[in-house]
Amino acid sequence: MRQIKSSSPLKGEITIPGDKSISHRSIMFGALAKGVTSVRHFLEGADCLSTIGCFRQMGIEIQKESDGRILVHGKGIRGLTAPAATLDVGNSGTTTRLISGILSAQNFTSVLSGDASLNSRPMGRIIHPLSMMGAQIKSLRGNDCAPLQIDGRMDLHGIHYDSPVASAQVKSAILLAGLYADRETSVHEPALSRNHTELMLSQFGADLHTEILKDGSAEIRISPCEELYAQDILVPGDISSAAYFIAAALLVPGSEVLIKNVGINETRAGILKVCKDMGADITYLNQNQGAGEPTADLLVRSSSLHGVCIEGTVIPTLIDEIPMIAVLAAFAKGQTIIRDAAELKVKETDRIRTVTENLKAMGADVTPTDDGMIIQGGKPLHGAEIHPYMDHRIAMAFAVAGLASEGETTILEEQCVDVSYPGFFEALHTLTV
Ligand code: S3P
Repeated sequence: MRQIKSSSPLKGEITIPGDKSISHRSIMFGALAKGVTSVRHFLEGADCLSTIGCFRQMGIEIQKESDGRILVHGKGIRGLTAPAATLDVGNSGTTTRLISGILSAQNFTSVLSGDASLNSRPMGRIIHPLSMMGAQIKSLRGNDCAPLQIDGRMDLHGIHYDSPVASAQVKSAILLAGLYADRETSVHEPALSRNHTELMLSQFGADLHTEILKDGSAEIRISPCEELYAQDILVPGDISSAAYFIAAALLVPGSEVLIKNVGINETRAGILKVCKDMGADITYLNQNQGAGEPTADLLVRSSSLHGVCIEGTVIPTLIDEIPMIAVLAAFAKGQTIIRDAAELKVKETDRIRTVTENLKAMGADVTPTDDGMIIQGGKPLHGAEIHPYMDHRIAMAFAVAGLASEGETTILEEQCVDVSYPGFFEALHTLTV
């Protein structure tokens, strides 16, 4: 457990670890490419290490160089070999869902299993479309969750899939299976979810097209692919991890923090838009392009915030940041409404429940709804014992809440931050002394 006290102003600069979504994809696509893919600023969080472990089990050599680069010795699109044991996906939904698309098209059988949280998350959302393509996937407990047994097949069909959810994991699973299909595959999603798969797979040589429709929904098409080619990838800082430092600097009076090299891809940067709408003082410096992904340094100064309504197509662009945004809203003047975010219920925890429970413990006025929450902000919060239920984003969001509250906050299960941000508490500490 970790004790957090109300903080003096945060000052200084910080470089955020690599983006989790992009790090996963760099290993997966590198493994399927011909040649050696080099990955700089790879996130060595537990989730991405699960992805590395799975591909090593399928015969891919992955090594770390003395300069920190990860080298993935790809064996081509048909180069994976049968794993000798169950693939351990740990806590990682991204590993599980994306890899399922790849495994559906291999000439071997594999079994995927993770921790208790992972094995209770819904996999029907990928089993269904992949089965339409001809994949053979069995939920071994018959509950549409992992463990999954995948009997790979070489004869998948291209489909058009109308996805009921804006989920990059669902979209990516289908697109990855589509690499191996007999004709074009397309996915329609109700709003464009994070597009790292599309950007990076194109860079590796796949043929992909995206169309944004008038109603804000999106259609992505992929053609079958003969070969992918190794790339040099520079992973930008993870905006989802930057979110905690943005929020800490905004909330603790007198703070000024420079957050360096953050990925600001529009399909991820909803938190920046929402913070600006709430009255945040955030300046973009040194805008750049890395791994086909836009980046910037963010200069954040403490600000007095007001409530907003967050809904519709912006939700997928900030879904992982909602625990942090809910904390910001509790400190902001007036009411914040978060809706259209029922996906929160199927993350590492049911985040409507875990955010509400912990905000209430700190004295906030918050009402959970079916697809979000309503927060009456502006009441001073007090320290409390925080239960993350092993959800990394809950632990980090409430550590920041603790900095801006009276008294002492205790974060239980502090080690769960290792999923996406090993060293998080130490990084926070460097800005508060
Ligand atoms: C991710 C997609 C999102 C996000 C998750 C990472 C990805 O999940 O919440 O943390 O890397 O594709 P969904 O696709 O379920 O929305």
